[in-house]
Amino acid sequence: MSIPPEGYALGAVAVAGLAFKLKTRLELSKAKHPSLRGHSRMARRVAALVPFYEYDDEQIFRSDDAPADVAGRRRDGFMRLAKLYQERFVETARLTAEVEGSISDVQFTDTYRVPFQYTRFVRRHLKAGSFLRASSGVTVTDLDGNTFHDLTGSYGVNVFGTDFYKECLRDGAARVEALGPVLGAYHPLVASNARRLREISGQGEVSFHMSGTEAVMQAVRLARYHTRRTHLVRFCGAYHGWWGDVQPGVGNPSPAPETYTLKDMDEDSLRVLRTRRDIACVLVNPLQALHPNAGAPSDAMLVDSGRGAHFDRAAYTRWLQELRAVCTERGIVLIFDEVFVGFRLARGGAQEYFGVAADLVTYGKTLGGGLPVGVVCGRKDLMRRFRDERPSDICFARGTFNSHPYVMAAMHEFLDRLDRPEIRELYPTLERVWNERAQALNERLERAGLPLKVANLSSIWTVCYTRPSRYNWMFQYYLRAEGLALSWVGTGRFIFSLNYGDADFAAVADKFVAAARAMEQDGFWWSDAALTNKVIKRRILKEMLLVHLRALLRRGGRGPARRARPSSDTAASANTA
Ligand SMILES: Cc1ncc(COP(=O)(O)O)c(C=O)c1O
Repeated sequence: MSIPPEGYALGAVAVAGLAFKLKTRLELSKAKHPSLRGHSRMARRVAALVPFYEYDDEQIFRSDDAPADVAGRRRDGFMRLAKLYQERFVETARLTAEVEGSISDVQFTDTYRVPFQYTRFVRRHLKAGSFLRASSGVTVTDLDGNTFHDLTGSYGVNVFGTDFYKECLRDGAARVEALGPVLGAYHPLVASNARRLREISGQGEVSFHMSGTEAVMQAVRLARYHTRRTHLVRFCGAYHGWWGDVQPGVGNPSPAPETYTLKDMDEDSLRVLRTRRDIACVLVNPLQALHPNAGAPSDAMLVDSGRGAHFDRAAYTRWLQELRAVCTERGIVLIFDEVFVGFRLARGGAQEYFGVAADLVTYGKTLGGGLPVGVVCGRKDLMRRFRDERPSDICFARGTFNSHPYVMAAMHEFLDRLDRPEIRELYPTLERVWNERAQALNERLERAGLPLKVANLSSIWTVCYTRPSRYNWMFQYYLRAEGLALSWVGTGRFIFSLNYGDADFAAVADKFVAAARAMEQDGFWWSDAALTNKVIKRRILKEMLLVHLRALLRRGGRGPARRARPSSDTAASANTA
């Protein structure tokens, strides 16, 4: 039987189509980061395999095979800290213990402050409280009257100092008292907020939401609606809130089939954007400039000294320019998620700081003037939620508390203050001031021979460790003992408010160095030539395999084991998704 000529033609088209599909699939694989973070599905599977085990009293200070005298010094130092914590944080610890059984968040954060092998021991002895009763200047005060320099930055909300927000809340509340909690209709302040936000963002339209997560959801939904494409691109390690599509890996029990997680700052990713036709938007969290392709650094993941960070402004600017060009060329919506960095790097946010304009920008955190908020600013055509020519084809977005009068009023106060001379004057010198502070601290640490350094993106800092060690996570407890308040991710992230003067910062630097000296003296940074980060990782892997093997032997032929408790790695990595 002979094949008609059109048969050959159809066959050739099919082969060409298959070859194209294969090529784009391969390009996509190449654009994924080789780490587990770059492979969400695999990461979830691996996380589910991590077994719980913990070190006993003997191993707890010798998990790196340190000599007995070093382990003894560590134990003494640890118990000295434990005594200090017990004496100093009585009421704060008591109330934390009281609520632990009833507030899920407290249980979670308390469980994931250190690598899981040490958690129970540490929690038994070093109770970090979850309560504060006051704030002032750059400090916060706990229930026992202890005052700490605040490095938590209230998750990034606190850009200008807590007193600034107290004023926004007070003055804002007074402005809207007459209307009270009426929703649906707007308080007139909404009009000036919209005007100011359009000017600051350089965008044509604004929408108000209740959280950063919701602002990101709405931006992505709009991008899908207008491009009629399905997929969003996020970069490896970047956090964009806890909505499923932007958290495709560990921490989210469901897969996110319409999300591509690509390598940050990489030509392979640009190639994918240039060739695929299903990409609606690219989400950029400019905070990733400090640690491209890595998740938010938390001390629960600090199993060795592999944490790295370095901000290269010129390189990241080039990357954003390249992204801008390819998105324009391909009709992909470029979204800057400035929920974290907005108003912190520059008055006009990351767009101004890096000199690159996005199509949609999300804000939140600080913009609420101390109250919860999410905002999308964007090009008018992209912000539209309906089509004139197809009246039933809409892009729905609501939220009961959107544009709440009290939130709008606090935002109004925030935006108002942004234009005051004392705030405007902060921005031009910001970068230099915080870079100089980081550099001075690093020089001091180096002179003192201490095995750590800081990396920073302006006022957002992270601590890196320069000597292989399994005990870096202990540093957070030494810092608290010196009077520095840290968030539950510990030394992974310090967020300074911009009202830190030179004297305030000098006090923080002194405390930081004192804490590091104490930890060094207590032997926690003991190391020998055989102890490398690779050796540490291998050892942990071996320990895990052994746990599985023992469980297998114990079970014999008795079927699959029931889990004693969920894998701690799962949740710890969720934070760093
Ligand atoms: C970049 C970014 N996007 C979105 C969010 C989510 O904001 P929210 O916690 O207000 O939902 C966060 C929160 O940390 C964030 O840092």
